[in-house]
Amino acid sequence: MQWDKKYALGIPVVDTQHRQLFRLSNELDAKLQAGIRPEEIDALLTHIGEYAARHFAMEEKYMAESDYPGLAEQQETHQAFAKCFVEVYEEFKKKGLNPEIVNTLRRELTDWVREHVTGLDQRFGTYYRDRQASAKKHASP
Ligand SMILES: [Fe+2]
Repeated sequence: MQWDKKYALGIPVVDTQHRQLFRLSNELDAKLQAGIRPEEIDALLTHIGEYAARHFAMEEKYMAESDYPGLAEQQETHQAFAKCFVEVYEEFKKKGLNPEIVNTLRRELTDWVREHVTGLDQRFGTYYRDRQASAKKHASP
């Protein structure tokens, strides 16, 4: 799935990270399909895990600063992803790249990223833009 500007929340730093997460998910998908060496998958997974953690922290900071009522729900889903990520990663380290792990990685990780960004995060985008618009309205004479 390709990034589209309709997925933008209107927060440049968060949108850049979302675009990069799409790119990383697509890269992981392509590498899993191509049957690339496990060492490369390992490096890519490590990168995705770190990148996602940094991104969640940044996104939650914006949510907290704008008093977003959906913050707790987002924190929960971000934590659930992180937990699932660690579990799949450990499974991969133990068993290597068997078809089951490939499936889990594709379904639970890459699909999750895309669904999250195009789903739950969009609600925050709408909230954030409305808030910005009304702040602007009140600021004008
Ligand atoms: Fe999110």
